Amino acid sequence: MNVYDSARMADVLAPLGFESVDTPEGADMVIVNTCHIREKASEKTFSELGRLNRLKEAKTAAGERMVLAVAGCVAQAEGEEILSRAPYVDIVLGPQTYHRLPELLARAQRAADAGTGGGGILDTEFPAEPKFDHLPDAGQATGPAAFLTVQEGCDRFCSFCVVPYTRGGEFSRPASEILGEARRLVGRGVVEIMLLGQNVNAYHGAGQGGTSWDLARLIRSLAEIDGLTRLRYTTSHPADMDDGLIEAHRDCEKLMPYLHLPAQAGSDRVLAAMNRRYTAAEYLDIVARLRQARPDIALSGDFIVGFPGESDDDFEATLDLVRRVGYAQAYSFKYSARPGTPAALLATQVPEPVRAHRLERLQALLGAQQLAFNQAHVGSRLPVLLERPGRRPGQLVGRSPYMQAVHVEVDESRRGDIAMVEIQAATSNSLAGARFPGGVRAA
Ligand code: 5AD
Ligand code: SF4
Repeated sequence: MNVYDSARMADVLAPLGFESVDTPEGADMVIVNTCHIREKASEKTFSELGRLNRLKEAKTAAGERMVLAVAGCVAQAEGEEILSRAPYVDIVLGPQTYHRLPELLARAQRAADAGTGGGGILDTEFPAEPKFDHLPDAGQATGPAAFLTVQEGCDRFCSFCVVPYTRGGEFSRPASEILGEARRLVGRGVVEIMLLGQNVNAYHGAGQGGTSWDLARLIRSLAEIDGLTRLRYTTSHPADMDDGLIEAHRDCEKLMPYLHLPAQAGSDRVLAAMNRRYTAAEYLDIVARLRQARPDIALSGDFIVGFPGESDDDFEATLDLVRRVGYAQAYSFKYSARPGTPAALLATQVPEPVRAHRLERLQALLGAQQLAFNQAHVGSRLPVLLERPGRRPGQLVGRSPYMQAVHVEVDESRRGDIAMVEIQAATSNSLAGARFPGGVRAA
């Protein structure tokens, strides 16, 4: 979602004459868009700011200016601290106020003109007006696959998670707005859209005629857009995985056979302490129903090891769940205490070496599953959306329906096509192959 938000911030700034550049050196403005989900991500903010301040000083020495802004969830959670630890920062803005960037920028420029710098501007409100009402159209799409935020924030309050505090309460964009944005993206050459939300399958936006639409209904309408050939959504909460959405995986051809469905843990005791509101058996039942609806569906997940109070047996239950599901891909993390969350206050924190050892074991298992999933495709043909240039000339990189990265030997003019690719090799992270003549060409 930060990638999407960064692109929208660029859209907001474009009418003011700003263009995106690849490196911060010499830029007139730098926005650091931050993540607060785990301590490691959040720590990076301060080291990055130190580095950027040196660029800012160099620019000042040359008689020019660089505006330095910090956006995103670290800004939301630690705005005051950023301004006191890094007083050279001009603007701090949260994830819900980036539509106000032009106004914040004008204020920062006035302060610099008046020589009253040193007092950065802080805007971390949760404004009553949704930012989406004040954003310009999504700008130039940069490739055939795009993100589209449909839902934001979360009301679930998992006990380890900062999202409900930094992104705020659950908000669903009206369906008409989403359909409009999707049509504009397709008009610019996009053929695949990834619908985004912190808890995307809790989507319940205003539909047509005063009705409320759920995610399955939204997907069915999006699937009617000509030229849009692939749909995906992320991230889903297992407890919001309803029958309608499972049926959409059976009936909707454009909905890709891939689902990111974080389990977080396999022990019912830990799941309850996490406030996840499902048991391991319920999670496995959802997986079984999904596989009944769409037998080839590839599953991905998130896991946390070393949640406070997690015993060796609890951890074994996580390994057991992973063995039962068989993931195509997964992300796993050591528990990281986040300020302000209930779990951070628990006295039963698991020692770091134990967390590290559990993560190693879990990642070995997940890595083996991922490699096996990829290797099973060697020798088969997969339709691959060719998204971007590869490392070498004569190579493009794309995605299979199962979200695998595929390196394809193919003429670069084929970028944007969905090509039939013969898979010749696999690693745990990607596939490699060559275009099979006569493959499908996208509209
Ligand atoms: N510690 C470790 N991992 C976390 N995640 C969220 N909060 C924490 C935390 N406090 C992980 C979850 C979530 C993913 C985005 O990040 O697995 O699904
Ligand atoms: Fe965080 Fe996801 Fe739980 Fe919401 S559902 S609180 S975003 S982990």
